[in-house]
Amino acid sequence: MTATGEETKVISEWPKSREAWERASRSVSGGVATALRATARPHPLFFTGGAGATLTDFDGNDYIDYVLGWGPNILGHGNPALVAAVQDQITRGATYGSGHLLEFEIAERLLQAFPCAERVLWSNTGTEANLSALRIARAATGREHFVKFAGHYHGWSDPMLVGYRPRAESDIALESRGQATSSAELAHVLNWGRAEELETLLTERDDIAAVFLEPVLCNSGVIEPPLGFLERVREICDEHGVVLIFDEVITGLRIAFGGAVERYGVAPDIIILAKAVAGGLSLAALLGKASLLDLTLNGVTHAGTYNGNPLVLAAAGATLDELSKPGVYERFETLSARLANGFRDALAAHNMTGAVNQVGPVVQVTLGLPTVEDFSDFQKTDQESYAKLLLELLRRGIFAVAGGRWYLSTAHTEAQIDHTIGIFDEALTALESA
Ligand SMILES: Cc1ncc(COP(=O)(O)O)c(C=O)c1O
Repeated sequence: MTATGEETKVISEWPKSREAWERASRSVSGGVATALRATARPHPLFFTGGAGATLTDFDGNDYIDYVLGWGPNILGHGNPALVAAVQDQITRGATYGSGHLLEFEIAERLLQAFPCAERVLWSNTGTEANLSALRIARAATGREHFVKFAGHYHGWSDPMLVGYRPRAESDIALESRGQATSSAELAHVLNWGRAEELETLLTERDDIAAVFLEPVLCNSGVIEPPLGFLERVREICDEHGVVLIFDEVITGLRIAFGGAVERYGVAPDIIILAKAVAGGLSLAALLGKASLLDLTLNGVTHAGTYNGNPLVLAAAGATLDELSKPGVYERFETLSARLANGFRDALAAHNMTGAVNQVGPVVQVTLGLPTVEDFSDFQKTDQESYAKLLLELLRRGIFAVAGGRWYLSTAHTEAQIDHTIGIFDEALTALESA
């Protein structure tokens, strides 16, 4: 819905955000920078700034922020070390178009965090990095098709935007108007957690270059891999000479310093990082075997004006410093388990059916089912009631988004978590009486 349709008649509780959205919609398509943000109810909020784990909107309301820019702000807003690093770098230039110290220093630090990798390629977004990984895998194997799993998101490019929100389990229809039809032919969408499906497909076909997966299915329910699944996928890929790619855009540096690779102890051939890696600035990276990533020296194009610029790498350096401090990941676990348990207790106290999944500082709340263990569960959850809950939370100063993923940063405090649980309880009461 646009800001200029019927919706304009609705009296907004956020008049200044409303006004800003209407004005923005006359210059920016949809009034905000992505179509997804435009779906926020009752309309997107406009923010003047953030501090730590809070955001302030145009109407002067403060929120505890669990969106964190859809994931990147793992240090919260305005982290002093990150601000200082970026300020220091910008005085010496934003980008040089050639080599510099941070380019290899930060690469070395990431390779220490992900010891199964030997090389880094810098990129700017998760979408781009996934595309590079696909191209590298195709070049390495001489094959064109690839496997992904239903409900997993690997960016919005033509080849990868397949099987993210399929309408039926067997449907691999394209997701965007204007997408090349060949995308649906080249991507094979399987069910998460069922290694036998992968085994069958790779036995039947010899044209599969790569298997892409989110090692924790963060985009559709925050679902951990079933026991032994990642290990089995690794074996099957090895048996068939297929490149295994972990899309750690969400999990990298978040569910452990060394991401899902560290947490589950399974080494893919290529790891993709983005979001948290530069604490809010736009940076992505591919990490992997030299034999794969060095193909870029041998005819595989990997380009980008902004790749590895010193400004974002200064931010990455500060982010790595902060995340390397003792106790950071233990604190993430404690705080997010506290939040998740608080949500579970509140749901139980209201006799409301819902599931709360949590892996590291990523928490997922869904309504309608008692457990969400795979993508088909996730698809059956009650998104409509959840959207109403979000609105009640927003009215009470909690910023979370549709889809149900809550991110914690190093800036969130125990007091904020407890406050949030209290508000969650109030919002459920409001939902019941609506
Ligand atoms: C797992 C995963 N991969 C890739 C992407 C795409 O990253 P970007 O939005 O930086 O292009 C996302 C974005 O949310 C993601 O969650």
